[in-house]
Amino acid sequence: MNRHLLDIEGLDDERIRWLLDRAGALAGGAEPQRRHGTVANLFLEPSTRTRVSFELAARRLGLEVVNIEHASSSSSKGESLVDTARTLAAMGVGVIVLRHPDDGAAENLARDLDAAGTAFAPAIVNAGDGKNAHPSQALLDAAVLEAQGIDWATARIAILGDIRHSRVARSDLALFHRLGARDLRIVGPPEFMPGPEELPMARRHAALDPALDALDVLICLRIQRERIAAGQYPDGDSFHRQWGVSEARAAKLDPRTRIMHPGPANRGVEIDSGVLDSSRSLVLEQVRFGLHLRTAVFEWLLGPEAQESEQR
Ligand code: CP
Repeated sequence: MNRHLLDIEGLDDERIRWLLDRAGALAGGAEPQRRHGTVANLFLEPSTRTRVSFELAARRLGLEVVNIEHASSSSSKGESLVDTARTLAAMGVGVIVLRHPDDGAAENLARDLDAAGTAFAPAIVNAGDGKNAHPSQALLDAAVLEAQGIDWATARIAILGDIRHSRVARSDLALFHRLGARDLRIVGPPEFMPGPEELPMARRHAALDPALDALDVLICLRIQRERIAAGQYPDGDSFHRQWGVSEARAAKLDPRTRIMHPGPANRGVEIDSGVLDSSRSLVLEQVRFGLHLRTAVFEWLLGPEAQESEQR
């Protein structure tokens, strides 16, 4: 049975704890454990930090890496995802890191490979699928907060902006709740709030001020234009006026409130440069931990237990 990283819900508590602790140890200077094998970064949607950090993480473990993008791959000629994955498996790829525009693409691929009985089926890592899940982002966010000394039981965390189209919001909230956080808030314009049944672990706010009261952490999200029909989203200036974290709004936050953003940030839209670059911003710490968390992911997926089960 192959191991995969598909979403937060598919990880048990022990694995979550190991990944967070291991990312923290690597960020503190622990030596990465070398591994053997080949990773394919199959990115069918744009990315900077996720793709590069998975690549650098693989290289620091001694893994071979190939990068595949939609425009330059046979997926642009109509090849199905499972056929692409089986082709990579036939060349000895042991892990496929998949970014895909469709909700559920990573889980569907893992299932389809299983159904096809693919020999030595690769582990699948979900590097963001539609608005569904981005588990490595959530894990790195939690690792950053633990390094900052967060107490999950008392933490007050708000996510602001385009929640409806955000895989980061879904995975962050699932993970923070698993870790014990109970004061979780979501806030944004009505058209960017999720459906009524979604994200029950978070309290919904229609107005900004009460949502931002006495916060430990404020996570800002960009408008996910690629998931919204043209003309159906607000222009940047009007969004900024009503919902953006301007310097004036940031000045009203509790002085201890830390600011996070998964990136890429649109300066002057959901967040001002002065806030993004301020000492309360954890944005570059998130990028730094991304490398360590993704190193831990490969250590796990290509660890001795995985290789033993492949030989059986
Ligand atoms: N946070 C994140 O997924 O960023 P990229 O799109 O640059 O990978």
